[in-house]
Amino acid sequence: MLNTFVYKQNNMSTFENTLDNPGVTVAALAVSHPAALSVFTKYNIDYCCGGNRSLEEACLRAGLNPDKIREEIFSSPAQPSSIPMRAEQWSAALLADYIVQNHHEYVRRAIPEIEALLEKVCAAHGNDNLWLLNIQQDFSDLAEELLNHMNKEEVALFPAIKRMEAHQDSGHPLADTLQAPITMMEQEHVIAGDLMKSIRGLSSHYTVPEFACPTYRVTYQKLKEFDDDLMTHVHLENNILFRKAGHVCNHQDNLANDQFTN
Ligand SMILES: [Fe+2]
Ligand SMILES: [Fe+2]
Repeated sequence: MLNTFVYKQNNMSTFENTLDNPGVTVAALAVSHPAALSVFTKYNIDYCCGGNRSLEEACLRAGLNPDKIREEIFSSPAQPSSIPMRAEQWSAALLADYIVQNHHEYVRRAIPEIEALLEKVCAAHGNDNLWLLNIQQDFSDLAEELLNHMNKEEVALFPAIKRMEAHQDSGHPLADTLQAPITMMEQEHVIAGDLMKSIRGLSSHYTVPEFACPTYRVTYQKLKEFDDDLMTHVHLENNILFRKAGHVCNHQDNLANDQFTN
């Protein structure tokens, strides 16, 4: 327990988290190889809720050749990323504050904007394009889910993680009590991921039809931005912050979930 916050940042450069390790997980590569993120996104490889799979397994499940994907990651130039540099080396307190100030604030700003756009688009095109009404309903459910979820993180979980980090040298007993709320937050990420996945499918990956008016186009663009931001947000929590808190994801649970994949 004393070492709960001794995050394995030193292992980031060791064999364990390299492309040469056949057992390396997608989540570990997402943290240690920023260039991998664009490849994972390109091939719809889940590095958030399903990130505890090995790269081999994730590729096989997606019908991809692991060697080809490994080669593509290896040869990909580092892309400008929405993931902050070396986030895995930040303190948990700093990372939690960053997530709140960057991602939570963005979600709160974007929700009313996207809801207003969807209202307009549905009023103009909903009768002839029924999928728009389904997207509006899914987004409404997603917004409600996320607002409740972020509130729980800000009021309860993140302060508890900070307290535990601050007391790590005195053997603070909070570590065990964090397991249940972290698991709950991960399960809520899966629910949000399901809704986002549904919106992604309904919109054919945010592909606007030829007849789309400017508002329709902006709506899909904003939804895509929201999807991308949520992916980064959940990655920072599941794969970095919660692991700093000593939580080991339940591999079996993750095997059952494909929420952030295609
Ligand atoms: Fe969050
Ligand atoms: Fe979260």
